[in-house]
Amino acid sequence: MTHGEGLALVDRDADGVDRAFRIDVLAGLRQAQKAVPARWFYDDAGSQLFEDITRLEEYYPTRAETEILEARGRDFAVSVGPGRAVVEFGSGSSVKTPLLLDAIAPAAYVPLDIAGDFLREAAGRLASRFPDLPVHPVEADFMREVALPGAVSAMPKLGFFPGSTIGNMVPRTAVDLLRSMRGTLQADHGVQPMLLIGMDLVKAPEVLIAAYDDPAGVTAAFNRNLAHRINRELGGSIPVDALRHVARWDDDLARIEMHLEAVRAIEFDVSGERFAMAAGETIHTENSHKFTRRSGNLLLAAAGWTPRRRWTDRAKRFSLILAEATAPRNAP
Ligand code: AVI
Repeated sequence: MTHGEGLALVDRDADGVDRAFRIDVLAGLRQAQKAVPARWFYDDAGSQLFEDITRLEEYYPTRAETEILEARGRDFAVSVGPGRAVVEFGSGSSVKTPLLLDAIAPAAYVPLDIAGDFLREAAGRLASRFPDLPVHPVEADFMREVALPGAVSAMPKLGFFPGSTIGNMVPRTAVDLLRSMRGTLQADHGVQPMLLIGMDLVKAPEVLIAAYDDPAGVTAAFNRNLAHRINRELGGSIPVDALRHVARWDDDLARIEMHLEAVRAIEFDVSGERFAMAAGETIHTENSHKFTRRSGNLLLAAAGWTPRRRWTDRAKRFSLILAEATAPRNAP
């Protein structure tokens, strides 16, 4: 494993607080509909809770995607070819990434994540599982274009973005991200980068609601951890026990929304600023968009990616799409 190479460190205040976190939270809480971007769920505690979610009976996406990765290794090998550097956006769980790496004979693995400890742990696990594979972890916010370590810059790249994390962004942000992934991966020696991306599919609302509001309350704990994180890192005084986890399906926008709803009128401080919520008022904490074949293809095309192959699990709950960067050319 290579340490320290190509690091794009998170911008922190003198007191160690992630500057972007403070800006996002304060701006979000000042809005009429309070909202905090979902990417702030993933401090170490939130990342651990998310791992717990992926093992829940009701949360099918991880198992469905793993089923595809297990079943389609030969297809990946043929469609991707050997010798690519696999750049994973968000360092992977120990389960999915080895399935891909086993299948395609990559030249290097670059896990890219904002949560440094979690990243190094994941990279360490992968390095011992694949002792001959160069592993170059990069601690960075993958929402922006990232300079990759010099050792992989000349290799053709395969971006890997599993889990349907793309669904956590509104379409405009999703397109921005997919575009900046193209910039991060960049064509080399005329070989266009590829992207293997997971997209969860539209299905019956009951199935979706159960996946985002499990009876064991793990998703509720994951949602509430965001309020705990605000209290911990931004000197907040949010009464977390007064916030209820809510998951709803918006059929027009094809997305699950998660909110933290005040069960009574509350007031609290964050970074020295005072906020109030009436009973029933919510903080919108996450969108999880679900896709059809066409809406997924359209999103990719809008960001300059041409879908080449698409696989689903047997129950057709989840899809993995292999796309190739669209070469610039004139089109009607
Ligand atoms: C990471 N992301 C794809 C998950 C999802 O399904 O939208 C996050 C999650 N939120 C609640 N449960 C899982």
